[in-house]
Amino acid sequence: MAGTSGRIADKMAFVTGGASGLGLDIVRRFVAEGASVVIADIDAAAGEALAAELGQRFVKLDVSNEADWLAALDTCERIDILVNNAGITTHGSIEDLTIDAFRHEFSVDVDGVFLGCKHIIPKMKDHGGSVINMSSMCGVRAQGDLAAYNAAKAAVTHLTKSVALHYARKGYGIRCNSVHPGAIHTPILDKVMAQVDDPQALYDGWVATHPIGRLGKPEEISAIVLYLASDESAFATGAEFRVDGGSSL
Ligand SMILES: NC(=O)c1ccc[n+]([C@@H]2O[C@H](COP(=O)([O-])OP(=O)(O)OC[C@H]3O[C@@H](n4cnc5c(N)ncnc54)[C@H](O)[C@@H]3O)[C@@H](O)[C@H]2O)c1
Repeated sequence: MAGTSGRIADKMAFVTGGASGLGLDIVRRFVAEGASVVIADIDAAAGEALAAELGQRFVKLDVSNEADWLAALDTCERIDILVNNAGITTHGSIEDLTIDAFRHEFSVDVDGVFLGCKHIIPKMKDHGGSVINMSSMCGVRAQGDLAAYNAAKAAVTHLTKSVALHYARKGYGIRCNSVHPGAIHTPILDKVMAQVDDPQALYDGWVATHPIGRLGKPEEISAIVLYLASDESAFATGAEFRVDGGSSL
């Protein structure tokens, strides 16, 4: 992993979906850069194992559940960095999807971000901080077979801007930005491939939509998240940070 120069030394971070994929890489990078991290995830086995390995703390959290959020945040005295990263990807067109599947996608990917942005305020407003919401290239550019995911990630994109304006106008010193990865090979892609008849064709299709000619790597996303978490990005708020191999162009 690149860089261990204490860019977020002594900061306290809370990372949702921190037990796998992008969240896991963000957790490792934050710890390497000097932060203490609360790993929050619905998957207790993976989260506890990672916390034990890194000497950090795990808290079980279903991001779609408000009571879970309040209980998890209650265990934290101070938080400087919140990464609303937990998410799922529901495959399907408007014709295929049931309303239940659509609502489930929104409950995790949108309600989860809403609850995090809302309930972090008392933990951050006295000293300021950075909230980073994981949207997607799919929140910018639509695909015919990802109707629920496209809509959810577009909602995260615009919610981020509204939240950023509110935090700024209130003078809380809290910034809020969204990150938009292209396709990155993590377990979430394996879960999407498991939902279709021809996973290899789907994978090849993803590669073809990235002008750079490959999928991304988790460390290419945690690098921008680290920048947004650090004071180096002190003038950035309400912005969309696209790291997508050109796929949103
Ligand atoms: N991998 C990609 O290609 C890609 C691209 C763009 C955006 N993203 C976004 O990045 C984020 C992380 O994706 P990933 O690729 O690391 O996926 P992943 O499946 O590897 O990890 C997601 C993590 O979120 C957790 N999670 C799922 N539902 C949860 C819930 N209700 N409450 C708490 N935790 C929950 C899972 O247990 C898992 O640890 C997601 O928001 C995803 O939409 C991923």
